[in-house]
Amino acid sequence: MSALSAHVLDEIKALPARYPQPRSAVMPALDLAQEELGHLTSEAMTEVAGALQLDPGYVQGVATFYTLFHLEPVGQHRFYMCTNLSCTLRGAEDIVEHLRGAIGVKAPGEVSGDGLFSYEEVECMGACEYAPMLRLDHRYHYDLTREKIDHLVAERRSPRADAVSESGPEKPKRAPRRRAPKQDG
Ligand code: FES
Repeated sequence: MSALSAHVLDEIKALPARYPQPRSAVMPALDLAQEELGHLTSEAMTEVAGALQLDPGYVQGVATFYTLFHLEPVGQHRFYMCTNLSCTLRGAEDIVEHLRGAIGVKAPGEVSGDGLFSYEEVECMGACEYAPMLRLDHRYHYDLTREKIDHLVAERRSPRADAVSESGPEKPKRAPRRRAPKQDG
């Protein structure tokens, strides 16, 4: 029996047509497989390779290189906390401690006891201006505070968690920086 459903395999087969290089379809294809199964099994990676007509070793190499792909079971909701320089300078350490306590994990790579949350620490995600920040599932969250973390966790724990919108990044609340006025002379 196939690890991936027929409709996901069809979606994966249609991907190469969107890219100048068919190999470029490997990441979105792995993303679709992970979305369906929660994590990437070796059967799923072999099926992705077959659907894209790529070498299975190449597909596995991509899956093992990027931290956003999971080779082991993960939580239903996945926190990726940025601990790079700008986020650390703006208080990421305190947010990390608070977040770990809120979901009940002690270290990166852990899944909470109830299976609801995974916790990872990642490198800069390119949103340094709104540090400290994290990605929760498919959405970025900026200018983090302890209260924001409590809200995100409570929202996912609520019985209506399925209704929580995950489309697109949260809009940064801070006003954009203005250019300094031109100096005369
Ligand atoms: S350092 Fe955290 S987003 Fe860049």
